[in-house]
Amino acid sequence: MTIGIPGTSLAAFSLKGRLAVVTGARRGIGLAIATGLAEAGADIVGVSASLEPDGSDVQRAVENAGCTFTAHQVDFADREAVKALAERLVGADRPVDILVNNAGTIARAPVVDHTDEAWDHVIEVDLTSQFVLTREVGRAMVERGSGKVIFTASMLSFQGGINVVGYTAAKSAIAGMTKALANEWASHGVNVNAIAPGYIATDNTEALRNDPARSGAILDRIPAGRWGEARDLKGAAVFLASSASDYVHGTVLPVDGGWLGR
Ligand SMILES: NC(=O)c1ccc[n+]([C@@H]2O[C@H](COP(=O)([O-])OP(=O)(O)OC[C@H]3O[C@@H](n4cnc5c(N)ncnc54)[C@H](OP(=O)(O)O)[C@@H]3O)[C@@H](O)[C@H]2O)c1
Repeated sequence: MTIGIPGTSLAAFSLKGRLAVVTGARRGIGLAIATGLAEAGADIVGVSASLEPDGSDVQRAVENAGCTFTAHQVDFADREAVKALAERLVGADRPVDILVNNAGTIARAPVVDHTDEAWDHVIEVDLTSQFVLTREVGRAMVERGSGKVIFTASMLSFQGGINVVGYTAAKSAIAGMTKALANEWASHGVNVNAIAPGYIATDNTEALRNDPARSGAILDRIPAGRWGEARDLKGAAVFLASSASDYVHGTVLPVDGGWLGR
C-alpha cells in the first residue's frame, strides 16, 4: 500500500524477521523503543544493569506484540562485561540486524563539584561502552553488508546544559561518533544514526521535573507545550531501524517538541 511518497510503502517500515538489541530496555525511553520495534515486527534482545532474567515489563510488552524477547543483565560501567556481551551477541546463531545504544546515566553537580568518579562513570557508561559494543557488533554488520545502528543522543549533543558537564561531554561525543562511524560504514550497507530526545518524562529527568523553577523554564521553551513521553520516540526509532531510512546516514534526529528551533 503506498502512502503517497513515490517509491515508499508502509512495508518499508516493517521490521518483521529482524533482531534488535536495545540497551537500557528495562524502563523509560529504552522500554518504549523496544516496544515500538516489536510492534513493527522485530524480535528483541534487551539489555540493562538490573534487567530481570524473566518477567520484566519490557519482556511483557515485546511478547504482547507477538515477538520474542531475550534478556541480558550487563553493567555498562564494567567494560569487560560489555565485551563479554558483544562476544555473546556476535557468536549467537542469529545475527543482530539493529543495535539501539540507549542505556545511559547522568550525574548532576556544578563543574566545581563534579568529581573524577562522576566524570569517569558517566563517560564509561554513556560513551566508551557504546563505542566498544558498536565496534564489535558493527564489525559483524559490515562483514554481512547490512545493519542499523541507532545511538541515543540528547539536546546536550547540541547545547551545554547546566550542572551536567560529563553528560554533555559524552552526548556531544555521541553526535561526533555517529558521523564518524557513518562515514566508514555507509558504503558497507550499515546505517549509523542517532535520535536526540528533547525533555522526556523519565527517571533521568525526575530531578528537573521536581524543581519548579527549572521545570517551568523548560516547559516555557518547548513549542509543543508539553514534556515528551517515552512513547514519542517510537516512530523515529522504527524509521531509523527500517529500510525506509536506507539512504539516511550520520544524522542526529531531534525528537524534541521543537526545542532546538527556539
Ligand atoms: N529523559 C530524557 O529527557 C532524555 C533526553 C535525552 C537523552 N536521554 C537519553 O535516553 C537514554 C535513556 O534514558 P531514560 O530517560 O529512559 O532514562 P532512565 O529511565 O533512567 O533509563 C535508563 C536506562 O539505562 C540503563 N542503564 C543506566 N545505567 C546503566 C549501566 N551502568 N549499565 C547498563 N544499563 C544502564 C537503565 O538500566 P536499569 O533499568 O537496569 O537500571 C535503564 O534501563 C539515555 O541514554 C539518556 O541519556 C534521555
